[in-house]
Amino acid sequence: MSYKRTLVTCALPYANGPVHIGHLAGAYIPGDIYVRYLRMRGEDVVFICGSDEHGVPITIKAREQGVTPQDIVDKYHKVMKDAFTGLGINYDIYSRTSSAVHEKNAAEFFRKLYDQNDFVTQESEQLYDEEAKMFLTDRLIEGTCPKCGNPHAYGDQCEKCGCTLSPEELLDPKSKLSGSTPVKKKTKHWYLPLDKYEPWLRDWILEQHKEWKTNVYGQCKSWLDGGLQPRAVTRDLDWGVPVPVEGAEGKVLYVWFDAPIGYISNTKELLPQSWEKWWKDPETRLVHFIGKDNIVFHCIVFPSMLKAYGDYVLPDNVPSNEFLNLEGDKISTSRNWAVWVHEYEEQFPGQEDVLRYVLTANAPETKDNDFTWKDFQGRNNSELVAIFGNFVNRAVVLTQKYFGGKVPQNLKPQAIDAETLASVKPCREALEKYIETFHFREALKEAMNIARIGNKYISDMEPWKVAKEDMDRTASILYTCLQLCSDCAIAFEPFLPFSAEKLRGILRVGIDAGWDHRAGEGTPTVNFYKEGEGKAVHTRPASAPIPAGEIVLNWEMLGANELLPSGHELGEAVLLFQKIEDSVVEAQMARLEAIKKAREEAEAAKAAAEAAAKVEPQKPEVTFDDFGAMDIRTATVLAAERVPKTDKLLKLTIDTGIDERTIVSGIAEYYSPEDMLGKQICILANLAPRVIRGIESRGMILMAKQGDGKMRFITPEEALTNGAQIG
Ligand code: 2FM
Ligand code: ZN
Repeated sequence: MSYKRTLVTCALPYANGPVHIGHLAGAYIPGDIYVRYLRMRGEDVVFICGSDEHGVPITIKAREQGVTPQDIVDKYHKVMKDAFTGLGINYDIYSRTSSAVHEKNAAEFFRKLYDQNDFVTQESEQLYDEEAKMFLTDRLIEGTCPKCGNPHAYGDQCEKCGCTLSPEELLDPKSKLSGSTPVKKKTKHWYLPLDKYEPWLRDWILEQHKEWKTNVYGQCKSWLDGGLQPRAVTRDLDWGVPVPVEGAEGKVLYVWFDAPIGYISNTKELLPQSWEKWWKDPETRLVHFIGKDNIVFHCIVFPSMLKAYGDYVLPDNVPSNEFLNLEGDKISTSRNWAVWVHEYEEQFPGQEDVLRYVLTANAPETKDNDFTWKDFQGRNNSELVAIFGNFVNRAVVLTQKYFGGKVPQNLKPQAIDAETLASVKPCREALEKYIETFHFREALKEAMNIARIGNKYISDMEPWKVAKEDMDRTASILYTCLQLCSDCAIAFEPFLPFSAEKLRGILRVGIDAGWDHRAGEGTPTVNFYKEGEGKAVHTRPASAPIPAGEIVLNWEMLGANELLPSGHELGEAVLLFQKIEDSVVEAQMARLEAIKKAREEAEAAKAAAEAAAKVEPQKPEVTFDDFGAMDIRTATVLAAERVPKTDKLLKLTIDTGIDERTIVSGIAEYYSPEDMLGKQICILANLAPRVIRGIESRGMILMAKQGDGKMRFITPEEALTNGAQIG
């Protein structure tokens, strides 16, 4: 099957928090690399994303902050959109699921399936909060985990022991909205009968898409082998797209039903006249970039929805990555364990490509991976700065020094020059193979390989030494280096667009970066990036000729010899990358440490408070006489010392009012001998004597012990005579 166009989507991120590096590594940077590459190849591509603005977590956040859900999504939509732009992620459109186009489109989609009788309905008993007058989704119910006793387990999962739960299994369930105990109430919902699509899905995925990444294929297989159940596509909620049928008042489309339709809505918003060809023409190839928690929705649920609707193309590939961890810990928005993209952009201005580089070089393509600030620093300093940047800088600075900034003539070529240039030739094919099969780490290595070849060549040739004796040979060496620099300017464009642009400014060349649809409908234009006039990006119609005197690179030129003719004047030599100092990454690590410490302290304090609040069950009944038999009195500690070789025992000399005696007590963990001196306490005086560590102990000091295990004295409200009876 050959394709005329490619529709690329990146998962619509939830607008309930900013985007972090895990999101970038999972879906957004790979998607952007892929699209930049396809555009450079002259392919017709539409790149779609936007904010996913529905769902329960947004309503919870709004409630917690005392604002409306709309306030929340407005805030994060802007933060996310700006963060993506700042990182050079070039969507054709970044819209939102609260848009009017989407609301209409999602409702229409549901309605068509409804009219075709594609749904089944089911009435079930759900938990309902009578105070908040709302049905409670699983996450709005909290209770004690029946497996591990965690008092804060959710209705669907216990985060402490990791077990999956249903709300009915929770002990003592409470609504998170009002704190009241939920009651059961009947409600009706619409379900997509995924079981019906199972045979088709098995064939479509397991037989026809064996080429999907193994992590994606494997997850699909295990879902399919586990057997599919009908899935509810509506919810009792007042935030979302209202269910457009009678009898569904107070219900909205389930967020995972409406969000993927958002891809269609956003295409429609961008290209109102021609969107259908992007979604319905079999010559369109659809590719979804997502993180691994989205696999089931993009490979099973959404395709079933599209299939049920009819007419739509199905995803050709779903290149999902695994998860990125941060300094060994799972990234978590709620625990603030993340590197936020908008903060990175504020703190590392001009270093956007460093993050793009590190997250690609270390992408969790086949398994979960870890981001560490040390690795970030190391990759910047010893790869970007020491190899790529160093090579370009040496080549350009020496050209300026010896040849007035003009590409020298190839006056005295040697075999090594041609061999070096020839060694770059296979890189293009390798890059194409890796990018087209979604192996971006390997692809980046290939691009880096060109810089590595250049850096080794210039180090081996030592033009700064050769220049002392042989200017003709120096000319050939630098001529060769500059050809390799222009290869870098092409090869890095999909990965490091800011640095590639900077490099083109240094080389004074433009690039045909393909066309895009950011301007909406109309004649596509080729983006002709030209440096030298600020950060100008010129566009020209695809058919227009290259302006006279301009050197315009394109993908096909990668690895071709002599892209820069002798005599071509270079621009200013600016550094492509800056060294990152220890203090910079140490500050980042300290920030994370502080977050971790604060979290651990808060968790410990919470655990202690919970333990302290725990009350032991009552002991079996005793008779009045049993109690009366106990002689409990006030007494004062006259002397105290540790019992040698023990951690817990104190030997106390007590004035009981009756006599002076010794009591050995296991309180040394909580009180030092000095704490005890002069204390008035209560004792059980007539306890049978016991020898403890060779000391006869006569009686017992009464202590109160609460859930945290700590013992405390019982002291009289005011000083009493020793020997006063208690009862
Ligand atoms: O995981 C998420 O952030 C989801 N909001 C992704 C939705 S992707 C698509 F279906 F819109
Ligand atoms: Zn548990």
